[in-house]
Amino acid sequence: MITIHLQPHNPTQAEHRLQVQEGQSLMQAAVDANLPGIQADCGGLLTCATCHVIVPVEWLTQLPPMGGDEDGMLAFTAQTRAPGSRLSCQIMLTEALDGLRVTLPESQY
Ligand code: FES
Repeated sequence: MITIHLQPHNPTQAEHRLQVQEGQSLMQAAVDANLPGIQADCGGLLTCATCHVIVPVEWLTQLPPMGGDEDGMLAFTAQTRAPGSRLSCQIMLTEALDGLRVTLPESQY
């Protein structure tokens, strides 16, 4: 099992913890668990940018490399792109990501 922590934008709100099997995207795991904060309007087709998360920079090297389409879509996030911005539909969960803690943007719209 992989444990992923999702911290709401407001740090006074409690984090959400996901325990999932590897092989699915962070977006899909969050949607399947009905977690608030990830809308994923396009279902992972890289056309909505409503699955934005901010990953701590020290974790970025553990993630799959960012493709050009994801890089381009990050220009359309509601919250300004940050150094650790990624689209969670492009983060495939592996054991190497156990313990990852991401922050949700203030809004996806
Ligand atoms: Fe639409 Fe990720 S779910 S871009």
